[in-house]
Amino acid sequence: MLGEIRDYQVDGNKVCFSFGEREAFVEVLREDIVNIFVPYECNEHRSKAIEVRPDEKVVFEVAEAGDAVTICTEKLIVKVYNDFYIDIYKKDGTLLCADYRGARRMRPLLSEKSLAVLKAEGHEVSAGSGTEYKVQAVKVMDANEKFYGLGDKTGFLNKRDYEFENWNTDNPQAHTEDFRALYKSIPFFITLKDTGVYGIFFDNTYHSYMNFGKECRDYYYFGAENGNLDYYFFSGEKMADVVSGYTYLTGTTPLPQFWTLGYQQSRWGYDSAAVIRDVAKKYREYEIPCDTIHLDIDYMEGYRVFTWNEKDYGKPGKLINEIKDAGFKTVCIIDPGVKVDENYDVYREGIENGYFAKTPEGDVYVNAVWPGDAVYPDFGNPKVRTWWAGKQNYLMDMGVDGVWNDMNEPASFHGELPADVVFTDEDLQSTHAAMHNVYGHNMAKATYEGIKAASGKRPFVITRACYAGSQKYTTAWTGDNQSLWSHLQMAIPQLCNLGLSGMSFVGTDIGGFGADCTPELLCRWIELAVFSPLFRNHSSNGCIYQEPWQFGKEVMDINRKFIKLRYQLLPYLYDLFFEGEKTGLPVMRPLVLHYEKDPEVWNLNDEFLVGENLLAAPVVMQGATRRMVYFPVGTWYGLFDKKEYQGGRYYMVEAPLDTCPIFAKEGTILPVYEVMQYVGERPYDVLKLVVYPGEGHYVHYQDNGTDFAYREGYYNAYEFESRDGKLTIGMRKDAYGKTYKEIETVDWHDAKWFA
Ligand code: GLC
Repeated sequence: MLGEIRDYQVDGNKVCFSFGEREAFVEVLREDIVNIFVPYECNEHRSKAIEVRPDEKVVFEVAEAGDAVTICTEKLIVKVYNDFYIDIYKKDGTLLCADYRGARRMRPLLSEKSLAVLKAEGHEVSAGSGTEYKVQAVKVMDANEKFYGLGDKTGFLNKRDYEFENWNTDNPQAHTEDFRALYKSIPFFITLKDTGVYGIFFDNTYHSYMNFGKECRDYYYFGAENGNLDYYFFSGEKMADVVSGYTYLTGTTPLPQFWTLGYQQSRWGYDSAAVIRDVAKKYREYEIPCDTIHLDIDYMEGYRVFTWNEKDYGKPGKLINEIKDAGFKTVCIIDPGVKVDENYDVYREGIENGYFAKTPEGDVYVNAVWPGDAVYPDFGNPKVRTWWAGKQNYLMDMGVDGVWNDMNEPASFHGELPADVVFTDEDLQSTHAAMHNVYGHNMAKATYEGIKAASGKRPFVITRACYAGSQKYTTAWTGDNQSLWSHLQMAIPQLCNLGLSGMSFVGTDIGGFGADCTPELLCRWIELAVFSPLFRNHSSNGCIYQEPWQFGKEVMDINRKFIKLRYQLLPYLYDLFFEGEKTGLPVMRPLVLHYEKDPEVWNLNDEFLVGENLLAAPVVMQGATRRMVYFPVGTWYGLFDKKEYQGGRYYMVEAPLDTCPIFAKEGTILPVYEVMQYVGERPYDVLKLVVYPGEGHYVHYQDNGTDFAYREGYYNAYEFESRDGKLTIGMRKDAYGKTYKEIETVDWHDAKWFA
């Protein structure tokens, strides 16, 4: 409780409130974005997510009205009361978000007796009652309020009635909907209610907690163990505005290199160059397009990062160049844990320069990861990031094309790092408690900078752990899922929520990482994943192999078919990234993002949109060969069955094992390339446009697909309009230096897929 407002003053975009003991701030960052800030820990934001804070003057008015101080922008009214209670209204006076004034209602404590009985059977229980956090905000929750976002959390799309924690966690158990935390911490959520939509980003890197009505149906809360109360409120006419507002502050997913959208193969346990060569050979032999092979920890010398296992993998660079000749790119895994070994240069350099995290007593902190005893680079220190960035040269010089950052929660096999392990936060000494959730973020950032400096290309980084804003530096995969139908089902909401949380370039391990994949599951997984930006089949050492050919001809044919479809649709995906860098909107989208007024889509977990034009309804149930598909308003056209569907209703759609129901919205103009065995096998001379009925407008981008020239304007933007089956082609921008030799129009009935 901050007490009475004693005074307030306007300072630029900030309104500074004095309460007896401390100050608190409301800062207007844009007419639809405000920051609420109580500096409990320190006076600066020290945000890891928002690196460039907008500082253009925003027009707003401050006045006293009754017992509140009101701050009015073009779009919002923020009312500030004693105790720093805050209510936020739309300009028309509709209440959007109100602080809850009552006390929290926690669950009664369990009796000693109940606890003892539960424990007797081995249940893991705590007395449980909820906690008042040092830093917290409690907001009124409406009866009909839904919650989306929060990064990679398990479960379904709508997070209402659940609670979550933000504490990057590597838990190899099968991820179920009662998991509160996974690998990523993105404390951003969107709430949708009858009166409107808004988003909140709680920018606090400490262990934080979010409870969306599980404790009490009258309120939801977010809180953290320490740090500041520092959150951003985003309003908008529609949900897409909120996503754009969030990425306006934390950054958008940048346009990737074109080849990174191709198919990728990985496995932990490809234990020699011979195995890799064989995998590469089989892809070409079976004519299954593939762009990339990942090298898991097996390629390293005793799991020492930035080394090469010559015994099993031959001379450094040899294998990479060999498979490069066959059109494969190589991505290598790099973990943060550095093996304790006096004879290992990375360890020695780090020790000599004081680059590893330390105990409070000043000794280098040691835990264990794959290489055994290991130490942790202190990525919050800019010097350590520069050192680590430089280390990427080792890989780049060998011809490696992308870097996969794993175990960066950070994982630790001898129990969690104690809260007081000493880390650095830029220019200040900090702790594990404060830096844990940004460890993966800072590692990915260092990796990105290193690859960029070494190659001049758009870096391809994949991370497991991250924080809000990591999308600027890295793509992400959802970690160690398993070959379970429930995990296939979860892939849709999980990837969609990551997209709503700014992370557009994401994917799951196709086929599942742990447990044994089945032929049917692999088919259904590839059918779903064909639209997940990160398109990688990966599995764990010890599980049965799950490359497309492992289950016989039928499964291989289905895999090939959908991988070919992916290569046909590459220009559509690339266009979405091109647009996404500007708008912040993701590639994979839950239907609620564009049809938020339609109650049918609020909890739709087994369909998704790709951009605005395609709707995918994959089969995610074992044995199913048909499924119900909901169509939002408009007319939709089946890509493969060539049927017409009317929106606002459900249809039963046939989906035998070799089919995934995919539909195009009326007016769609779909850009398509010819299938190649890998990106750039031949020049993309011909662009096909599949034209669907209705009126359409579409912008297609073309550039070198590799470096940053597009940011200087070196790209083409074609503009297509369709009306009554007639297409007009225009060129909005013609600066790439090359154009297609031919642009061919194809009527949707005649479109040939999988070929
Ligand atoms: C972790 C990763 C997994 C990887 C394995 C070995 O479990 O999540 O993808 O294969 O480590 O490096």
